[in-house]
Parts: sequence; C-alpha cells; structure tokens
Amino acid sequence: MSGVGIKKTHESAEGHVTGHAMYTDDQRQFQGMLSLYPVLSPHAKAKILSIDISKTSEVEGFVTVLTADDIPGENDTGVIIHDEILIPTDEVYYWGQAVIWTVGETEDAARKAAEKIVVEYEPLDAITSVREAVKLGSFQGQPQVIRRGDPEKALSKAEMTLEGELDMNGQDHFYLETHTSWAVPDGEGGYKIYASTQHPSETQHIVARVLGIPANFVVATCIRMGGAFGGKESQANIFASLAAIAAKKTGRPVRVRLRRHHDMIMTGKRHGYYANYRVGFTKEGKITALSANLYSDGGWSLDLSPPVLGRSVLHIDNAYYIPDLVVCGQITKSNRVSNTAYRGFGGPQGMIVIEDIIDRISRTLDIPPDVVRERNFYHGEGETNTTHYGQELYDNRLSRVWSEVKQNSNFAQRLAEIDEYNQSSPYKKKGIAITPVKFGVSFNKTVYNQAGALVLIYTDGSIQLNHGGTEMGQGLHTKMIQVAAHSLGVNNERFRMMHTSTEKVPNTSATAASSGSDLNGQAIKNACETLKARMATVAAKILKLDAPEDFIFEDDWIYCKSYPKARVSFDEVIKQTYNERISLSATGYYRTPNIHWDPVEGKGRPFYYFAYGAAVSEVEVDGFAGTFKLKKVDIVHDVGQSLNPFIDQGQVEGAFVQGMGWHTMEELVWDDLGRLRTFAPSTYKIPTISDVPEHFNVHLLERAPSNGVIYGSKAVGEPPFMLAISVREAIRAAVAAFGKTDYVPLPLPATPEATLAAIDYVKAHSMETSKV
Ligand code: MTE
Ligand code: MOS
Repeated sequence: MSGVGIKKTHESAEGHVTGHAMYTDDQRQFQGMLSLYPVLSPHAKAKILSIDISKTSEVEGFVTVLTADDIPGENDTGVIIHDEILIPTDEVYYWGQAVIWTVGETEDAARKAAEKIVVEYEPLDAITSVREAVKLGSFQGQPQVIRRGDPEKALSKAEMTLEGELDMNGQDHFYLETHTSWAVPDGEGGYKIYASTQHPSETQHIVARVLGIPANFVVATCIRMGGAFGGKESQANIFASLAAIAAKKTGRPVRVRLRRHHDMIMTGKRHGYYANYRVGFTKEGKITALSANLYSDGGWSLDLSPPVLGRSVLHIDNAYYIPDLVVCGQITKSNRVSNTAYRGFGGPQGMIVIEDIIDRISRTLDIPPDVVRERNFYHGEGETNTTHYGQELYDNRLSRVWSEVKQNSNFAQRLAEIDEYNQSSPYKKKGIAITPVKFGVSFNKTVYNQAGALVLIYTDGSIQLNHGGTEMGQGLHTKMIQVAAHSLGVNNERFRMMHTSTEKVPNTSATAASSGSDLNGQAIKNACETLKARMATVAAKILKLDAPEDFIFEDDWIYCKSYPKARVSFDEVIKQTYNERISLSATGYYRTPNIHWDPVEGKGRPFYYFAYGAAVSEVEVDGFAGTFKLKKVDIVHDVGQSLNPFIDQGQVEGAFVQGMGWHTMEELVWDDLGRLRTFAPSTYKIPTISDVPEHFNVHLLERAPSNGVIYGSKAVGEPPFMLAISVREAIRAAVAAFGKTDYVPLPLPATPEATLAAIDYVKAHSMETSKV
C-alpha cells in the first residue's frame, strides 16, 4: 500500500532501533580512504586454474581482496548488452584484464599485496588481430548495411574501377588524468560515487546494477575531468563499480586511480579498422559507385562498438555525393581490450576510406587531388545534395569553407611553388593538401538527444547552475554560464557552476557526440525562460505596467520593451519575487526536434545538422629518415555563431593536433600473443607542442548562424579532428614527389618507418615505368 492516509512506520524506524541511522558526527567513520590495485592477466586468453592470496596477509596495510564473490548484484558492466564481466570467474579474455583486485590502507599497500598473489592459468588459443577475426568469422553485434541505388550494377557499368584495402590503427586517449573513482557508503544503504565520468547517469545505473540496489540509492557526481575524449563515456563505469563494491565490502570509502600504464593496457581505445572497397568512376574522376566493407576492432566485449560503427557507415561519404553505394560494417570479436568512443566516434574511420580512394583516383587519372575532391562534392539541391542514408544537406556550407580556405592559404600559388621546390630538392620534398570535413551532429541514438537543467536563484542575487553535461576541458561549463547570463540578462559573476550530479539533474545523456552545448544550453535556456516569466510578472507589478511577456532582461535590469525608461533592477525583482512567495528555482528541459532513424532500413534524418570545415596542410618530408615537419596549417571551420570564439578556436586546434597524432605518429603495437607493446609515453608517441606548426591559422567561418541551435552556434568538439586528414594527404603528396607512380600506398599512421617504406615503393615503381 502506498499513498497518503495509510499507517506506515517511520522511514528511519529500523535505523533508530538498530543504531544504524546516521547522524552528523557518525560521518567521521568515513575518514581514511582505502585504495584498490589490480592483478593483470599475462595471457590474451586463458583458463584461471587457481588464485592463491595466502601471502597477501604479510603486507602491512593490506585489507582484503575483491573477487566475483564480493559482487552482490550482477557481475557485469556492459552498457548496451550484458556481456562485460567485471571480475572474471573462470576465464580471462584479453591480455591485461584484471583478474582480482586488492584493497589496501594505501595504494602502496594494495600494490604490494597484489604482487604477492599467485594466479595459475592454462593458456588458450586467442584471436589477436582484426584481420584474424575477419578470417575466422569472429564477429559480435549486428552487421550494419546502408545501401542506395544499385551499386553492383553501377560498378559493372563503370568506366573505370579500382579495388583496395587499408588498415587503420586505434588510438589511446591519453587524457592527462587517468581513470579515477571513489565511493563512499552513506551508512544507510546508499553510495556516493565520485567518478571521472562523461556519463554520470550511466555510472549511477551500472553501480546500482553491480550492487543489486535501485538507482535512487546511488548518487554519481563528476566534478570535472582532466580530459576524456570519449574514453570516459563507458569505461568509467568499470572503476566506479569496483570502488563501490569495495566500499560495500569494507564499509569504508574506497578509491581507485589507475597508473598510466594500467590505464593504457586495461581501458578501451579508438577502434582500429580493416577496410576493403571497390569503386567505380569516370575518366573525369567522378565517383559513380562504391562498395565497401568496414571491420572494426571490437575487442572482447561489445561496449559502444555498435554506435561507433554506425557513425563509420554514415560518414563513409564524407563530403561527397556517391550515387550508388553499399557499405557494410561489422564488429570483430577478439581477445583484445574492448574498444570504445574516441573523438569522432567512428566517423574518422569511415571518412579515411573515401579520402584514400579519392587520392587513388586522382593518381590513376593524373588529375590533382583537390580537383577530384571538388568534382565529387555534394552540391546543388535534391538528390546530389542527399546522403546515402537519405538526409538532405539543407544548409550545405562545403563550398564556402573550401573556397575560403583555398583563398586564405593561397593554395594554388603554393602548390606551384612546391612543385618547383621539389624539382630541385632530391632528398627533401614538400607536400601540400586540402581536405574537407562534413560531420553529422546529434547522437545516432535518437533517445540520447535530450537534456535537463536546474537553475537556483538565491535571494542575494547569486545563482547556482546545474545541468546534465560534464566538463572535460572542452569549456562546456563556461559556455553554459554564458548561455544562462545571456538568457537572464545578467553578468557572468552571479553564477556558480555546480558539480554534475545525478541528484540534481536525472536521466542525463553522456556528454558526447559534441552535443554538450547544444543540448544542455537549450535546457538551461528553457529553465531561465521559466524564471524570467515568473519574474516579469513581479517586475510588471513593481513598475505598474502590463504585458509582462514584453519584458526585457538586460545588463542586470528589467524593463518593458515599449516603455524602456521605467526599469527595475534584477536584484530588486528577485527580492520581491521571494516576498510574493513565487519560486526562484526551475528545471529546464530540451529534446532535439525533427530527428529520426530507422536502423533496419538504414534511412532517416539522424543528424540535426552538419558541421563543415576544410584544412590546408603543408609538410616537408625527409627522404632519408621518413620524418616530416608540419610547416603550415590553414583552417576554415564552421561553428555557426560561436558561443565563445576562444574556446572554439582551442577546440579546433586541439582536435586537429590530436587528429594529426592519430594520422602520423600514435602507434599501438600488439604482438602475436595479443600483448600491447606500447603502453607508456616512452613507446607511444603523441604530438607535443613542437609538432604544432608555427603557422597555424584557424579561422571560424563568419556570418554563419545555425538555425534552431542554441544562439545560432554549432557543435565543435569532434568535427575538427578530421581536418587532420590533410596532414596525411600532404605527407602523401610529398612522398609522391620522390617519383612518378599511379599509386602511393601510405599506412595509417604515417610514421617515419611507414613513410620511408612508401618512399621506397614510389622510387622502385617509378624506375619500372621509366624503363619502359
Ligand atoms: N576537449 C578537451 N579539452 N577535452 C576532452 O576530453 N573531448 C572531446 C571534445 N573536446 C574533449 C574535448 C569529445 S570526444 C567530445 S564528444 C566533446 O568534446 C564533448 O564535449 P561537448 O559536447 O561539450 O563539445
Ligand atoms: Mo566524444 S567520442 O562523443 O565523447
């Protein structure tokens, strides 16, 4: 029985009589946080025969171990399906998987205890690469196919065709702050979780799942992250869950903080891909048909692989209209770490395929790559402006960004100069390339496109802001304060942004898909509008005017549009609103309109809009070392009407440099036994400040407000990542200058070794042609 009018015992009765009810001073017992440490599997796949923990008790400060037996709820942290065992029971599925965790008074004690644990394994045959998984037919999830027209027929009729394949590397997130979580039992059956998570609501639910308690007993909070880049969208749940289980077992607060090498070994990365294709085109370089297969490195469990792959198949067109097209994506299952979201979310892996193809067409036909790109752009109206999944590019800005960056960078003249330079420079060659980006904004999964906010005005005029998004360095909180200040017509200093918490705004989506500002900004604006409507009636009364709906909030003043001389301060209206017993707090809500997706047909309008950009990169490649120097970069990028040009420029620069890392230097090397050999900065090279070009000219497209998005802005977090395709293409152009071939194979990443091999190829094959 529930409801009012019934006899129900006091909600704390049991706590009162057993002595478990918590009072203020009882919180003392939560001092002294314990630490967790993992024992990792040395095998990619093995049976666990025995685990001997007898020697751990020799370690001072050792408290206990965590095994699957300590999990009161479900031993699973899978986010789409329940296929991700948290602590293995009889088998390990990848090299570096945690088999058992130790709990210590200090991290050092936990580590020493972990070193005392002896695990016996029986190694089993493992699948350790994407290609091997494809060969063996080892897949997970559903194949994803998008088809337009009749590509088979179009290919058979094509003037020319090409076939090819390519392998793409994954990428470690290398956020500065590794995965960190801590859990505090609240003494009343609930848990407070502090996690470095992009998705507090999901963390809340997964913690509740492993603890076997309802979600309302878990409060998940994210203060801010020291970088995330997609790596904390689902992965944070694992560590929050472990901290929670340990907190449950010990009754004390417990933290887990991964060491860098553990983070690099144990957590999911960008998916590597293997792709193959057949393309048909005209002698003018116009693509008429494409058939492509994309195989992503899913690893041992599904995680977010399906939506990541979904974005790959939706971005294989990049900026190009391909009339007859079929793309088939599949997720491999192997004994590797389970891969996850990473800036671009599968988009880059799709776009690379078509950009590779374009370069091959260009060299086959001896037409400059930029000309082939232009000839294939989405343009005009109707069919030639509609993607393979049936969405029209209603506000196509490709030609704008393209022509502006061509002009800004003086592309044509530099191309000629570089040609001349290369004629007289036998060992060093320059290369220049221009590439476009079209990136769909919105979560592929329609339901995620919603957000909430909670705005609390206090009687002294200060304001607390809450929204569902998390801060990871991308400047979301700054932008959200700007949105609230703009909407309420007050100064920024009034606001305090609160930690993201599931007890303030529930049922939130991950801060991902670059939609943080779009979604939460609208929710905040919605809350502010509710408050303004209430305050306007009060202001109208004070000013003895009608029509509160015509009141303007500006510069901390409130006045009526038609009678601006009479005005009252924001602070005075707040006080009067309170005195009149009208609420000064409001929730806000937003859902993206007009989007839909049919996953079976592979058709719909999955994106609210597209972000566009174009980049020109110039490199110099050393023919002896295979190294390159990025000399100059010019970018024109479309962020709509920028909410904050400083932040947006930083996002464009950061994404570009991170993209350059993926394209040219970051190399995850696995050996045949499935062991990652590059799990520290000593062996895994990310770009540094010295890799940033001196000439780095980022231009935000001007006069470009976007309809229906918060104050005309556009998402900026991920799209510029793909501008770095221009760096790889510039390297390819430089490599091509070492000879004359109709093909320049360049692996991804284009490391010095790979570039050297490509130079060798070009030299060897040009000699053949010159012999003829
Ligand atoms: N910028 C910084 N400094 N740190 C990050 O972790 N993550 C990127 C991007 N920019 C990231 C970042 C990713 S993967 C996404 S999806 C967006 O920020 C998320 O934030 P937004 O939606 O608020 O743009
Ligand atoms: Mo970003 S990969 O969507 O977190």
